[in-house]
Amino acid sequence: MNEPSSNYRDTWNRLSETLDSALMHVAGYIDEERIAFEAERSLKLVRDTIGIRPEDTMLEIGCGVGRIGKVLAPKIRRWIGCDVSDNMLRHGATWLAGLGNVELVRINGHDLQPVPDASVDAVYCSVVFMHLEEWDRYAYVKEAFRVLRPGGRFYCDNANLDSDDGWAVFESSARFDPNNRPQHLSRCSTGTELNVYLRRAGFREVKTGTAGVWIFAWGQK
Ligand SMILES: C[S@@+](CC[C@H](N)C(=O)[O-])C[C@H]1O[C@@H](n2cnc3c(N)ncnc32)[C@H](O)[C@@H]1O
Repeated sequence: MNEPSSNYRDTWNRLSETLDSALMHVAGYIDEERIAFEAERSLKLVRDTIGIRPEDTMLEIGCGVGRIGKVLAPKIRRWIGCDVSDNMLRHGATWLAGLGNVELVRINGHDLQPVPDASVDAVYCSVVFMHLEEWDRYAYVKEAFRVLRPGGRFYCDNANLDSDDGWAVFESSARFDPNNRPQHLSRCSTGTELNVYLRRAGFREVKTGTAGVWIFAWGQK
């Protein structure tokens, strides 16, 4: 496989050497009950925007250990989790053990190359754009369009620059020494930014919404 040089993989492999460290960087805590509770909250945003149907094959970009996949997979036909980090995927295999309709896919950090065109019903990407450069965010929006069947649905989110909580994220990242910024430092988005990506990628009926720190956008192929 032709892999573009990138340090997303190195960065996220380092952050997820152990399951506890992976959970800390995915959720901010390691308590399983709390993780399941918060995963349901993430899932609610997906359900309220693009819907969740029993016949769906749904794909997550940047799935981590499968925090959301674990609560989503039992509700749909098939769940595909894609991630750049080998360690996240390794922990994901344990986290999702016992679920027969899940598949974990290693991706190169920039596209969904292993996933065929027009093969899934819905794609979502949650708590990932904050760690990506803008061009890579847009690259995944275009890739989501490619792998979706006609009529397929897409959802993405990020911390909302235009909110008090999002501004706090911005200021906390801004405090880092410019010469020593970790690659996974959180970067915010605006609704306009996400809306532009979806429209430029070809999505129709593009909408944006906010909830707490989150700005999210969704649309249809
Ligand atoms: C904060 S975690 C969120 C995981 C999951 N979406 C969730 O909500 O539980 C960010 C995830 O994005 C993955 N990631 C980071 N950069 C990526 C990239 N360029 N392509 C794909 N995945 C990436 C990381 O490995 C990590 O699993």
